[in-house]
Amino acid sequence: MTRGKFITFEGCDGCGKSTQLKLLIEYLTENKIEHIFTREPGGGKISEQIREILLNGKNAEMTDECEALLYAAARAQHLRDKVEPALAAGKIVVCDRYVDSSFAYQAYARGLGVEFVEKINAFAMEKYLPDCTVFFDLSPKEAFARKQGADENDRLEQAGMAFHDKVYAGYKTLAEKYPDRIVVIDARRSPKEIVAEVIKVLQEKNCL
Ligand SMILES: Nc1ncnc2c1ncn2[C@@H]1O[C@H](COP(=O)(O)OP(=O)(O)O)[C@@H](O)[C@H]1O
Ligand SMILES: [Mg+2]
Repeated sequence: MTRGKFITFEGCDGCGKSTQLKLLIEYLTENKIEHIFTREPGGGKISEQIREILLNGKNAEMTDECEALLYAAARAQHLRDKVEPALAAGKIVVCDRYVDSSFAYQAYARGLGVEFVEKINAFAMEKYLPDCTVFFDLSPKEAFARKQGADENDRLEQAGMAFHDKVYAGYKTLAEKYPDRIVVIDARRSPKEIVAEVIKVLQEKNCL
């Protein structure tokens, strides 16, 4: 059995990841391409419980280190529970956010640094580096305008525009650092135009 491909979607809150995930899943289903879709943090019983702690607006006093470690913990469990079995069965795995979110949010925007985030994510980086990562390029300002503002119950969306600008800059740095793995897609177009390009890129990368 050929191992499946691991595809991850990245970008600022509101850039269109979930919308594109749905459209790609429709394409995969119509074309009878075996797949699963999942998301981070979460995607399994234990990892969804960690997600609840992470995103809960009542946990405002959470330290940056605790946040980064919880993301890495949820990721490790999710990889074992859901990603590995699907890849081993030859399926395509499409994941809404993955390790690049930890670099953009925790290493760059929170300022924990790349080395620390790399260390706690070594398991993910060494064994489960995505075959292709799609970065939906849209500034936080444009993204929040689409969502009509940040979700007041979401701890990370409440972090303020300066923080989200750093996240966005972090993503751009990552795209320059990993040009072979990370594909930058202009997310200012219509959902249909964007998904057509996503499919084309994934085909070119032998992921579909
Ligand atoms: N290409 C697009 N053009 C305009 N609006 C979009 C586009 N893609 C998504 N949206 C809208 O923007 C909002 C955020 O999209 P969503 O897919 O939830 O983003 P994310 O999952 O990255 O936070 C939603 O209201 C969605 O309908
Ligand atoms: Mg989403």
